[in-house]
Amino acid sequence: MAETKTPAPQHAIVTMQGIGKSFGANRVLSDISFDVMAGETHALLGENGAGKSTLMKILMGAYRTDEGRILFDGQDVTALSLRDRIDRGIAMIFQELSVLPNRSVAENLFILREPLAFGRRVDSRKMLREARTLIERYAFALDASARVSDLAFAQRQMVEILKAISRGAKLLVMDEPTSSLTIHEEETLFRTIGQLKQNGIGIVYISHRMADVLRLSDRISIIKDGRLVGPLDPRKTSIDDIAAMMSRPKGQVPLPAAAAPATHHSVMAAGTPALEVDNLATSRKLSGVSLSIDPGEIVGLAGLVGSGRSTLGKALFGVLPDVSGDIAVAGGPLRPGSVSGAIAAGIALVPEDRRLEGLIGGRSIEENLSLPRLSDFSLAGPLGPMATARITALFRQYRDDLNILCRGPSQKAQELSGGNQQKIVFGKWLAMKPKLLILDEPTSGVDINAKRDMRELVRRTAGEGVAVLLISSELEELLDLSDRILVMAEGRITRSIGRMHDETRLRALLQAEAARQTDIRAQGVAA
Ligand SMILES: Nc1ncnc2c1ncn2[C@@H]1O[C@H](COP(=O)(O)OP(=O)(O)OP(=O)(O)O)[C@@H](O)[C@H]1O
Ligand SMILES: [Mg+2]
Repeated sequence: MAETKTPAPQHAIVTMQGIGKSFGANRVLSDISFDVMAGETHALLGENGAGKSTLMKILMGAYRTDEGRILFDGQDVTALSLRDRIDRGIAMIFQELSVLPNRSVAENLFILREPLAFGRRVDSRKMLREARTLIERYAFALDASARVSDLAFAQRQMVEILKAISRGAKLLVMDEPTSSLTIHEEETLFRTIGQLKQNGIGIVYISHRMADVLRLSDRISIIKDGRLVGPLDPRKTSIDDIAAMMSRPKGQVPLPAAAAPATHHSVMAAGTPALEVDNLATSRKLSGVSLSIDPGEIVGLAGLVGSGRSTLGKALFGVLPDVSGDIAVAGGPLRPGSVSGAIAAGIALVPEDRRLEGLIGGRSIEENLSLPRLSDFSLAGPLGPMATARITALFRQYRDDLNILCRGPSQKAQELSGGNQQKIVFGKWLAMKPKLLILDEPTSGVDINAKRDMRELVRRTAGEGVAVLLISSELEELLDLSDRILVMAEGRITRSIGRMHDETRLRALLQAEAARQTDIRAQGVAA
C-alpha cells in the first residue's frame, strides 16, 4: 500500500523575475515573471512560437536569459549551469524520452548509480527492490522488472518521470507531454500528475489541449506578444476566453469562414476509388487490411494503443520493407515497399514524428516546402527564376493560411517553434497536390487557432478531390472531419462506422474494443 502524504505547505519552488530574451533582432520574451508552488500544476499557454519552450529552456539553463533572475528553492540559480540546476532538482520531461529501451525499468531508474554488491558488481536484487519501493511510493502502474521496449509510451514516460524524481527533482517541466499519448494513456499521465502533486512536486504543464489544461491545472499563465498574461484561475476561465487571450492577429489573407463540417462530399466523383487496399499485411503488425477511399472522401482511423494505425499509414507510403497485399492508387497498381514509388503514384504522408521523418532541420523553410516537388521546380541543376518565384509564392500561401511565425523563407526549420515546424511539414505535403493524403496526428502540438485553420485546409483539400486518410487520437477531430471512421485493433480493421457526431459514443466504442481485445487475449492464454 502506498502511503498518502499530506500536501506540502504552499511555498514557491521556483520564481522567475523580469526575464527577457532575444534571438538576434527577434525579441521573444519581455519582463516575464512566473512562479510555481510546491504541489501545484501551473499551466503555461500561448500560440505556436509564443516563447513557452524558450522560457522553460531558460529555467533549465539550456538558454541564458538576457535579463532578470531565477530563484529556485529560495536561492538565486541564474548563473548556474544546466547540470547544476538538474542537481538542485529542476527536471524537464522531453518529447523524445531518454530511457534505454533494452534495459529494465529498474535498470533505467538507477542508471549510473546502481547499488553495488561485493566486487563492484551491480546488486540486481537490491536494485529491483528499491525500484519497487519507489514505484509503490508514487502508486504508479509499473512493473520494475519489465523491459522498457515492451512498455507503452505513457509507461515509458512514467519511467522518465520517476527517474527524475528519484534523483530529487522538486520541479518537473512537461512540454506537451500528451502529444504522443492515446486517450487511455492520457488518463494514466493525469493520475501520475495527481500523485506527484500529492508528494509536493511542482509541475509546469505546457499543452495545446485546452480541456486537459482546465481540468489539470491550479493556475494558468499565457504568453502573448512576449509578455505574460495571468495567472488565471482555471475555475473562472473558459476555453474560448483562453483562445481569445492567446490570439495574435492573423496574416493577410483570411481563410474562408469555417464551413459546416464535411460539406465537401458532394464533389466526390463516382467511379475509380483513389485508394484500394486488399489484404494488406506486414510480418509483425498488420493482417488482412482491406479498405477503399474515394476521391474527396475523408476516412478517419480510430484505434487503441499500438493498434497499427501508423503502421498502416507507413505501409501505404512505402516506408516498410515487408508488406504484402495489393494496393491501387487511382486504379493503378502500386508495388509496396518504395517511398519514391508511392510519391510518384500520388501518395503523401504527414508523419507522426515530424522531427525524425518530416523535416530537414538544417535546411530553410523554403527548401523544406519544395522538397517533395523538387523535380517540378528544377529538372536539373540550380533553380531557375521561375521555380524560385513559385517556391516563394508557395511559402507566402502557407505562411498566411497557417499563420506560420517565422522571420522569412530562408530561416532554418530547426529555429522554428515545434508547432510552426508541424505547419511546415503539413504545408509541404499539401503542396504536392496528392491523390491520397495520409495525415498521422496532423495537429498534434499545434495551437487552438492554427488547429482550426489546418482542419479547414484539410476540408478544402478534400473538396478539390484529394482522398484523405486521417489518423488522430483526438476523437473530436476525427468526428469533425471524417465522412467515415474505421476502427483498428491489433493490426486489423474491426469496424466501420458512419458519421457519428457523438464523442461519448465513439469513446465508449473504443473502450469496448479494448475490453474485447483483452478478452480475446485472455482466452488465448487460457486455452
Ligand atoms: N535557437 C533559436 N534560434 C532562433 N530563434 C529561436 C530559437 N529558439 C526559438 N526561437 C524563436 O523563438 C520564438 C519562440 O519559440 P518557442 O519554441 O519558445 O515557442 P513555443 O511557445 O514553445 O511554441 P510551440 O507551441 O510551437 O512549441 C519563435 O519565434 C522561435 O522561432
Ligand atoms: Mg514549444
